[in-house]
Amino acid sequence: MVKVFLNGCCGRMGKVIVNLCLQSDDYEIVAGGDIVSNPDYKFPVYSDLSECKEDFDVIIDFSNAKAVPAVLDFALARKKPFICCTTALSEETLANLDKASSEIAVFRSANMSIGINLMIELAKKATKILYPEFDIEIVEAHHNRKLDAPSGTAMMIADAIKQEMPDEAEYVYDRHSVNKARSKNEIGISSIRGGNIVGEHEAMFISDEEIVSISHSAQTRDVFAKGALRAAKFMSAKTNGYYNMSDIIAEYTGE
Ligand SMILES: NC(=O)c1ccc[n+]([C@@H]2O[C@H](COP(=O)([O-])OP(=O)(O)OC[C@H]3O[C@@H](n4cnc5c(N)ncnc54)[C@H](O)[C@@H]3O)[C@@H](O)[C@H]2O)c1
Repeated sequence: MVKVFLNGCCGRMGKVIVNLCLQSDDYEIVAGGDIVSNPDYKFPVYSDLSECKEDFDVIIDFSNAKAVPAVLDFALARKKPFICCTTALSEETLANLDKASSEIAVFRSANMSIGINLMIELAKKATKILYPEFDIEIVEAHHNRKLDAPSGTAMMIADAIKQEMPDEAEYVYDRHSVNKARSKNEIGISSIRGGNIVGEHEAMFISDEEIVSISHSAQTRDVFAKGALRAAKFMSAKTNGYYNMSDIIAEYTGE
């Protein structure tokens, strides 16, 4: 049984994790943090993390970028593994997470879905084999309430592909403004917004003769919550170091 402190426990992702833990014998939420409260929860919710009296094995955070520095201080003070799922972190926070990983175990991924992270590994492999003969394009689609474009996940895919390209990759987001023929080292990144789409990502490798397409479709937010809980189990025995979903995938593949 992994005992979890859940920061942002009253938010959309927090609620999904609380529900999954209620149905599981493997995880228990012993306390949470949030600036709002949820009277239905059976565990205490702290707005000031220093008041938390409960013991726990790991901290999972799905809150707000502004909250992360305080959660990191809390993790350092309690010497507990910190699974940071909150996105849009500042350069300063990213540097502090890196620094803290010499004292505590830190896990961060902008996309906690095992499926997306497998897709990224496959896209890296495809790049090694197919580039530069094939042109590379990424297409993503999300619901009509999403503020940012392209998605952070599309950028994770692009960055992973870029790492495998021997040339310096050039990201092209808006062909309308570029108005020229594509060059070999481009990664085109296109966004679609509409309805209630949870998250669609496709990496296309296109030659004159064939198209290889690697795609992922998130059906519910549960994929991120399940990935976070999988990370909680992985991290519960770790004392320090910086980890991400590649480390969990490596556990499956033995690489
Ligand atoms: N890594 C991933 O796979 C993944 C997936 C989904 C969402 N996210 C990220 O997780 C975060 C939360 O997403 P969400 O959809 O649940 O958002 P949300 O707005 O529904 O929930 C955020 C919760 O955090 C709380 N909060 C805000 N400031 C706080 C603070 N200072 N201290 C404690 N709690 C605070 C809010 O009250 C709210 O209950 C976002 O950054 C989002 O981008 C990451």
